Amino acid sequence: MDYFEKRAVIIRDDTPLREWFVPEHIMHREGQQQEIARCLKPITLNRASRNVFMYGPCGTGKTLLAQWVMKELEAHSAQARTAYVNCWKRNTTHAALTEILSQLDVYVNYKQGTNDLFKVLEKEAAKHKVVVTLDEVDALETTELLYSLPRSGIGLVMISNDAYALLDVDARIKSSLAAEGVEFPAYTTEEVYDVLGDRKKYAFVPSSVGETVLKTAARLADGDCRIALETMRRAALLAEDADRETVTAEDVKNAFSSTKNLRKTEALKRLNPHEKALYLILEKQKELGTKELFTAYNSEVKEPASERSYRNYMNHLVRLGLVKAKGELTGRKYEHVI
Ligand SMILES: Nc1ncnc2c1ncn2[C@@H]1O[C@H](COP(=O)(O)OP(=O)(O)O)[C@@H](O)[C@H]1O
Ligand SMILES: [Mg+2]
Repeated sequence: MDYFEKRAVIIRDDTPLREWFVPEHIMHREGQQQEIARCLKPITLNRASRNVFMYGPCGTGKTLLAQWVMKELEAHSAQARTAYVNCWKRNTTHAALTEILSQLDVYVNYKQGTNDLFKVLEKEAAKHKVVVTLDEVDALETTELLYSLPRSGIGLVMISNDAYALLDVDARIKSSLAAEGVEFPAYTTEEVYDVLGDRKKYAFVPSSVGETVLKTAARLADGDCRIALETMRRAALLAEDADRETVTAEDVKNAFSSTKNLRKTEALKRLNPHEKALYLILEKQKELGTKELFTAYNSEVKEPASERSYRNYMNHLVRLGLVKAKGELTGRKYEHVI
């Protein structure tokens, strides 16, 4: 048996389907690109920029646009220096600072304390126009950086899935941030379809992926381009494994059920222990009234939070798309979604 015998090939190059791939064309985000550029353009004139806060659900191009704007700034200004931090991966001030400095090519001993690292960064900010992207900004353990970075003239691009991520930030910090909000709504099915169509040219053998197949993937992805691209990648692998030369709508549906879990895992990472407990109760019960859920939560958790925090937690679960809310106030019902 020839284990390497020639089999059907659908994926010509899987790089364009990967999450970190930066596409040549950004589609359907002209408005956001314009707003972000307007905030940061002063940097190219050697002036102070405005801070930006990008928010919206998963897979709507927030990280992509942050990467785009940093690249543009560096191309248009000899003074600009940029750094990107994913705050889920670097959630302490110290970890974020070491990451920022290393991306600015400033080498420091990571054993140095936060204050020392900050002084080094301040010196760098005095020499250049520094812009820092804090992706998943609500994952930071403290809001220290949101206060200290702007004070040393560093421009901030903050990103979150949660429009209210900065709501609880101290008023003093909020006013010094003065961030301009840029909304990233979920894409329409047609928009996701366009993104898939563009990526298809680079990723797949032309005849292997038809229009219906792409439309199915776009519809299932429900406005999330990451899910759409990952679904297409997995669907193509399923077809290749079956030694077929074309992807079918059936492949897409099968691939989607495994991709859907990806969305859930991503969302679950963003929950605090109380929210996780609430989510798990609803996952089991499928649907509960707000009072019943609060009672169940109180008997489940050792140190339950106040009713007011409970409401905040539930709103967060709804915004992440894990849970749906129906009705108002005491008649409110919560339903498990994914
Ligand atoms: N407007 C777009 N044009 C082309 N590709 C896009 C667009 N929006 C998102 N994508 C792609 O979809 C995936 C998810 O986008 P991403 O920026 O990571 O979303 P978010 O950060 O909002 O969760 C990435 O692979 C990205 O390249
Ligand atoms: Mg992102």
